[in-house]
Amino acid sequence: MNDTRPIRFFHRGAVVEVSDAAPTRTVLQWLREDARCTGTKEGCAEGDCGACTVVLGELDADGALALKPVNACIRFLPTLDGKALFTVEDVAAGDGTLHPMQQAMVDCHGSQCGFCTPGFVMSMVQVYERDTARAAVPTRQQLADDLAGNLCRCTGYRPILDAGQR
Ligand code: FES
Ligand code: FES
Repeated sequence: MNDTRPIRFFHRGAVVEVSDAAPTRTVLQWLREDARCTGTKEGCAEGDCGACTVVLGELDADGALALKPVNACIRFLPTLDGKALFTVEDVAAGDGTLHPMQQAMVDCHGSQCGFCTPGFVMSMVQVYERDTARAAVPTRQQLADDLAGNLCRCTGYRPILDAGQR
């Protein structure tokens, strides 16, 4: 008896079903090659640079939505089953208004070549949602710790941290 079933997860306002995905297909490969969502970048492809950062959502024990940033390049697609996937292409409002974190990156000049930017934005979107929910403001050091998995090789970290604090 074949008891396999499609992987199901929430993405871009709909439940996506994926059948016959190889167990080692990564979330990043699915995003860029199958869903054609190329906003999420591939840098190192081994979990070191953070360019591929996306945010996963799932219900916690209290039934609340818990968000966490993950490296899409080392996250296998089948592990998305039952979760929600958010990328840099999902955080702006429907009318094109940027997410506050995206706008802060613009205002604080937090991007030069832009390759790392989607990953930084998604890590900071998770921080923004986490700290807004608990009415907290991260210190610069806390923010630096939250962004420890994201590397930038041309802008420098000061304007990125400025954006995060704004
Ligand atoms: Fe570098 Fe994923 S591409 S961590
Ligand atoms: Fe170029 Fe960060 S803006 S690597």
